[in-house]
Amino acid sequence: MAKRPSVKEILELARKGGAAQPSGGSAEEVPAEESAPEPAAAMEAAPAPAADVPTPSSLGRPLTLKEKLAAARAGGAGAPPAAAKPAAAAPPVTEEAGAEAPAEAPRAVPAPAAPLGRPMTLKEKLAAARSGGGGAAPAAGAKPAAGAAKPAAKPAAAAGAKAAPRALPPLEKITDPKDLAEAARQTAAKKEKEVAAKLAEATPPKAKAASKEVKPSTVLPKPGRATPGATAAATTAPVSRRRQFFKAAAEVCLSWLFIAWATFAAGCAIFTAMMGRFMFPNVLAEPPSTIKIGLPSNFDPEDVNERFKAEWGFWVVRSTRYNGQDIIYALQSVCTHLGCPPNWLAGEQKFKCPCHGSGFYISGINFEGPAPRPLERFKVTVADDGQIIVDKSQKFQQELGQWSDTDSYIQA
Ligand code: FES
Repeated sequence: MAKRPSVKEILELARKGGAAQPSGGSAEEVPAEESAPEPAAAMEAAPAPAADVPTPSSLGRPLTLKEKLAAARAGGAGAPPAAAKPAAAAPPVTEEAGAEAPAEAPRAVPAPAAPLGRPMTLKEKLAAARSGGGGAAPAAGAKPAAGAAKPAAKPAAAAGAKAAPRALPPLEKITDPKDLAEAARQTAAKKEKEVAAKLAEATPPKAKAASKEVKPSTVLPKPGRATPGATAAATTAPVSRRRQFFKAAAEVCLSWLFIAWATFAAGCAIFTAMMGRFMFPNVLAEPPSTIKIGLPSNFDPEDVNERFKAEWGFWVVRSTRYNGQDIIYALQSVCTHLGCPPNWLAGEQKFKCPCHGSGFYISGINFEGPAPRPLERFKVTVADDGQIIVDKSQKFQQELGQWSDTDSYIQA
């Protein structure tokens, strides 16, 4: 019995391009062309349709999945175009295996097992793939082409994704994680667009315009710089000009100098008004100087009438004691010492001053006390109606010889 090759030997043979000998036989017993055909041969055999491959027209019914797979592996016409890759990756199908394929397509796939009499093990498949034989050769040969196609396809796919979102099935039917991620990204983008649209609708157009443009009224000209630009700004902004005027007026009114001058002016005005009022009094306090005291017959002889003393400041005396004539005269009720009002003492028939004790006779001549001279008389006349009129504006003094004047008395 021949010795079974080790794994190292199989790998070494695979690196050299030879086929492994799963059956343990030598290379002479199992030729490499039979166990693992060359890739070129496999590529030529794969596209050739097998004679026994069933077709929908031969069967009179649609192909089942198994039949389609078997036809694809066998390179039949009934296989879909997408099945070309699995057919290329699959091990080459021999004529014997292809004959059995319509009946049991999955079992006919490992065609290389025909020379071995059993299916290939994993190690044998790996060795066949490394050696470039079997179904691995076309796959390896096809990879660079697919790899070359991928870099060219990626930018196109990316551009398509950016231009229009990829169409996805309903969320309940999505099973691929990539599709789920894409669906989540599309949902988030849609929500962002909705929020942005709501914000644009809620913002008033005036606020947008105000936020963009600068108000000319907010730029106030500096005081003391009457530049043309500032003047133009002031004319275009009356509100700002009024505000500036009121501000300046408030500053002037609140200054201490203005308050001091305003107080001084107010004081001067009040003083002038008071002086004017003093110069033009509206009440005359002095009583009239003339008064009617009645008819001469109303006065008794050798009597002193005190009815007018309190109000008018004189006595009306009818007496014959001064010059022996019955006359009526008016004596001022003021002491000639210091001006006190004397009292008439009817029991003693004299005027007595309460201040210093001066005494006066009924005629008015002083005889005691400090009074230096007699009492004074007022002017008395008789009116047209016969009443006696006393004029206080004119006085008559005895020491001056005035009592002899006829105006100083009337005949009773
Ligand atoms: Fe009349 Fe002096 S005032 S006595």
